[in-house]
Amino acid sequence: MDSGPPSDLAGTAGRLLAWYDRHRRRLPWRALPGERPDPYRVWLSEIMLQQTTVATVGPYFERFTARWPSVGALAAAPLDAVLAEWAGLGYYARARNLHACAQAVVERHGGAFPDQEAALLALPGVGAYTAAAVAAIAFDRPATPLDGNIERVVARLFAVAEPLPGAKPTLRRLAATLTPAERPGDYAQAAMDLGATVCLPGRPKCLLCPLEAGCRARALGIAERLPARAAKAERPTRRGVAFLAPRAAGRVVLRRRPDKGQLGGKAEVPSTDWRAEAWEAAEAAGQAPLAAVWDALPGLVRHTFTHFHLELAVWRADLPPEAAAPATARWAPVDALAGEALPTVMRKVLRHGLG
Ligand code: ADE
Repeated sequence: MDSGPPSDLAGTAGRLLAWYDRHRRRLPWRALPGERPDPYRVWLSEIMLQQTTVATVGPYFERFTARWPSVGALAAAPLDAVLAEWAGLGYYARARNLHACAQAVVERHGGAFPDQEAALLALPGVGAYTAAAVAAIAFDRPATPLDGNIERVVARLFAVAEPLPGAKPTLRRLAATLTPAERPGDYAQAAMDLGATVCLPGRPKCLLCPLEAGCRARALGIAERLPARAAKAERPTRRGVAFLAPRAAGRVVLRRRPDKGQLGGKAEVPSTDWRAEAWEAAEAAGQAPLAAVWDALPGLVRHTFTHFHLELAVWRADLPPEAAAPATARWAPVDALAGEALPTVMRKVLRHGLG
């Protein structure tokens, strides 16, 4: 047996809906059975839930809807107030788009969210997932939102062995074959809840699952291994030398990194370029910020960024109290370094070199 549809494809949505009717999560933005969902609340929750957990979002959602009960109220709010309420949810671009979207709904649609995926997709900050989720949940359109939870459910039901992210189009197509004409909004939320509470990433609770009998991955004994993920590319290692120059008067040289590139515009202990090859001493000395007698300290400072590991050697030169800072740098008081906006890797360099 290989990948393919669950054995009871036609009954799958019905089973999941019956399960949802008994086990649905009670969430602040969710309409009760028989109630009409408020598209504003549905949209707001979906934006907040991107890359954030249900538990974190709850209090933010309550505060937002208490302060701005409608999309018109949110559109009329000053951007700064919206950003302040958003603080802690991360990714301020999302909060700016949230505000821009509220204004677009007022300007383009008279304050009523459009009920079609295509018109939703044209709004600021609304991508394929959010457009489908709002169309389904708020307007009961047969749209198929695909989030991480639903991807996992579908990969297992159909035993899709192809790894993510390449498998996304396949999963999207298969997910759409499950979406029912009746109650597509409840169905979408049921699939989300199943993924969040039963069809869990590491240890799926197959014995509690309403779809167990038909699930291909369960039959093959591979549910916990799906969805497969492409092996991550190895992070490369880059190397550099940091020049730590304390002055007898209790100051240390810091400078601003170029605006472009890693840690753009942030403060740093001056360092060479970061590159794959190790640095020869004479070559590194050519990039020192000032002429001095440099001492290579033992050990390395290691730090991992999203796309590479960094290894920094630390060279130290103790300067007399009258030493001038290089033109492109400044003296920072050592006892006030805690208050400097310094990247973590630079704090490691300072700890390594100053103790
Ligand atoms: N995650 C994202 N949107 C959700 C929703 N509407 N219900 C449950 N979990 C979700």
